[in-house]
Formats: sequence, structure tokens, C-alpha cells
Amino acid sequence: MTSERIIRVAVLGAGAWARHAHLPGYLRDPRCRVVAIADPDRALAQDAAAAFGIPVVARDHTEVVRREDVDLVDVCTPSATHFELSMAALEAGKHVLCEKPVAFDYRETLRASAFARSRRLKTRLGFTFRFSPAMQYMKALIDEGFIGTPFIFNGYEQNSQWLDPKTPLRQVDPDADPSVLHVSSLEGYGAPIIDLGMWFTGSPFAQVVGTMRNFIPERMVRATGRMMRMNIDDGDIFLGEFANGAIGSVQTSFVTVGNYPGLEARMYGSEGALICRLVEERGICEVLRGAKPDAVEFETMTVPERFYPPGGNARESWRTLFYANLVSSFISELLSGDDRNEADFADGARVQEVINAVERSYRERRWVSLPLVEASS
Ligand SMILES: NC(=O)c1ccc[n+]([C@@H]2O[C@H](COP(=O)([O-])OP(=O)(O)OC[C@H]3O[C@@H](n4cnc5c(N)ncnc54)[C@H](O)[C@@H]3O)[C@@H](O)[C@H]2O)c1
Repeated sequence: MTSERIIRVAVLGAGAWARHAHLPGYLRDPRCRVVAIADPDRALAQDAAAAFGIPVVARDHTEVVRREDVDLVDVCTPSATHFELSMAALEAGKHVLCEKPVAFDYRETLRASAFARSRRLKTRLGFTFRFSPAMQYMKALIDEGFIGTPFIFNGYEQNSQWLDPKTPLRQVDPDADPSVLHVSSLEGYGAPIIDLGMWFTGSPFAQVVGTMRNFIPERMVRATGRMMRMNIDDGDIFLGEFANGAIGSVQTSFVTVGNYPGLEARMYGSEGALICRLVEERGICEVLRGAKPDAVEFETMTVPERFYPPGGNARESWRTLFYANLVSSFISELLSGDDRNEADFADGARVQEVINAVERSYRERRWVSLPLVEASS
């Protein structure tokens, strides 16, 4: 591929996240163009097409994924549809950007990853927070040796999005047994912070042990507008041992008081410590602080300009700021002609495997070893 080439994108799903994050990201990068958008709710797709200048509107994904003028399919639909839509796009020979999770079972995500690789197609998970300028700088500092040997990772993704039971929530599974606690926050909120933990320590988890709770028993169901028992995990904590000797803890919840998006990643090592907070407070959406053994008071660190998208800064919405970086890094990979592919479906599968292991640990009240395939064989 030459650098003059334009990546042509079809977006599946014209809902809130497509309009607030994905579509503004593509609009900002002159190396790509959204050529089609599909949503069963055609009026939504038409609105998005008008707002973002998209020429083709469809109701059904099959009308766009096979189009010859599409290089990349972006799956921004409800989670239960991700695997089927991603596979349809990969089978049509398209690169895929998919919101998390690709599938609820990590083995399905691995299957999609292997299929993509066999076709030399690139994949990208919607790991939004990896692409915040401050998190990107934190990773660069860790790679340069700022913290030395990684000792301890602490991760949080929490806010009060669903503290009020009347805030509508999509039902996890309409046929779910209400007497069994179902994974929810661990999956939705856990994925990005688990990803950051493994990215920063440079190691997969070797063992995990965790617990989950349902704090708000009855909630408003988005589809019906009625209150009903929803036995979902709205708060969870796990401990982990990384394969490289580091240890860590992760806490996620959508009923803990605090603002969006609510991430905090702390890395402590032999030579220093870094704490990155992505919480919109007083108009600022990201703060990175660092300390050294001989200067133990944490100081705010200035994120260099090169980590920001054009025109971006810490006072813009985190949704557009972080997604602009995510999109532009994927477009760069697609245009590079080499094998680079970060935050791909393989990373997604590793994260999903940790989620599945923590759930198993909770149900069986024990430590669970990773990888799960080897542990169970
Ligand atoms: N990474 C993040 O930080 C982040 C933040 C918010 C949402 N998300 C994820 O983004 C995804 C979309 O979330 P949302 O808030 O926009 O949901 P939403 O319900 O507002 O929008 C989803 C849209 O997809 C459409 N859709 C359903 N099936 C489809 C199909 N087969 N083809 C095309 N369109 C289809 C629906 O009609 C709907 O308009 C979810 O997976 C969500 O978890 C990620």
C-alpha cells in the first residue's frame, strides 16, 4: 500500500458510541473515509450519514460488508452481535475494528484472531483507554525504564453510571437465571483495565482470584422501560500474579461514585512509579503523575504534544480525544504494509480469558491458573 491510499470504512451500528467516538475519529483522519453505514434502525443510520457526510446508508450489514469499495469494517453494535458481524467482515476479506468484547468466550475470539491472521487481515479491539495520550506516554516511559522492574500494578475502572436503578440498562440475557449472579461490570469495565495491566507490566497473568457482587438488585430494563430483578455483577475485585513475577489488583464497578470514564492505572517498580487517572474532573480528562525513589512526592507530568491527535488536548471530550488516537493508529497500521498490529483480537482474547478465569475463580471459590486451555487439559 502506498501512503496516498485512502482507507475506506463501513461502520455497522449508528448508536451513541458510533456517533460520539468512532465517527468523529474517522472524520479527523484525512487518510480514511467512511463510505457506508448500516443500522437496522434506518433513521439512525440516515441521521449519522447526514451528520458525518457518509454516502451509503443500509439497514442490513450484508449490504455493506461485501462492497468492493470497503477496506475496513467497524463493528459498533450491541456486544452479542460482535462475533457474528466481525466474522462476516473477515470472511468478506475486510480488516475489522470491533468494540469489546469480540465474544463472551475467549476461545471464539481466538478463533476470529486466527482466521484474520490466516487471511493476512488486521484486527483492532476498541481498547479506548490504551489510546489516551497520557496512557500512551505512560507506556513510552515504562519502555524507557522510568519504573525499572515492574513490581505492582493497581487498576480501577469505576464510575456511578448505573448507581441510580432507574437508569436504563440493557438486559445481559433475557433467559438468565435470576438466582445466578451474571458477569457484567467485570466484562464491560474490566476489559480495558485488564488490557492496561498486561500492557504495562509486559506480561500475561499466571493466576487470578476474584469476587463479584450485585449491589443494586432491581433495575430499569432499557427495552421494556420496566423495573425487574437483574442479578448482575455491578462491582468486582480480583488479585493476580503476572507470569513475570509482578503482582496486581483490579477493581471495576458502575455503582461507585465518581465521574466518567473512571480509570486509574498505577505501576510501581524498582526505579519509580507512575499513576495515570482518566477521570473527567474540572474539564480535564487525563492526568499522569510520577515519582522517583529520591523524589517521592508525585509530580504531574506534561504529556508531550506528539501523543495528541491534531488539535487535541486534555480539555476535549475523552470520547473524541482517545478514539481519534485509536483510529489513527489503526489507519497507520493498515497503510504501513508491515505486520504491526497492536490491541488486536489476540490481545482481546487474552483479556477475555482473564475475565473468564476470574468468573471461574468466583464460582469455584479458588485461584485459577492461566492460560485456561493448558490448565484444563
Ligand atoms: N470502548 C468504550 O469505551 C465503549 C463505550 C461505550 C460503548 N462501547 C461499546 O460500543 C458498542 C455500541 O454501544 P452503543 O452505546 O453505541 O449502543 P447503542 O445501542 O446506542 O447502539 C448500537 C446500534 O447498533 C445497531 N445494531 C444492532 N444490530 C446491528 C447489526 N446487525 N448491524 C448494524 N447495526 C446494528 C442498533 O440498532 C443500535 O443503533 C457496545 O458494544 C458497547 O459496549 C464501548
